[in-house]
Amino acid sequence: MLTNLEHLGLAVHDLEAATALYTTLLGTAPYKKEHVASEAVDTVFFRVGGSKIELLAGTSPDSAITRFLAKKPEGIHHVAFEVDNIRAEMARLKEAGFVLLNDEPKPGADNKLVCFVHPKSAAGVLVELCQSVI
Ligand code: CO
Repeated sequence: MLTNLEHLGLAVHDLEAATALYTTLLGTAPYKKEHVASEAVDTVFFRVGGSKIELLAGTSPDSAITRFLAKKPEGIHHVAFEVDNIRAEMARLKEAGFVLLNDEPKPGADNKLVCFVHPKSAAGVLVELCQSVI
């Protein structure tokens, strides 16, 4: 089962500028900055109540964020839902006909195991499943 709306992932060109903007907008400083080498992204996380905002900037031309921003304006890149058992949810969604972008859970930002669901099978929205790893 998908539980919490864990975070919204926002693709930005200038991470420093976007961090300053969101610090003012949300009225709070980010709690984490993290480079995710496997995705070639720099991330900045803000807490908003029980949810989070993840700012993402690509660090290489191959980054999914760099490619996204080559085609689209800055904005919402993905919607992430917390799951208790990512493998069980991946199997359930695959069985239900959703297209998963990875066959195995992979390490994501902020101490998570993640799997992405292709936007073409999720009404145009890139969906991230994430499970906390302690
Ligand atoms: Co995310």
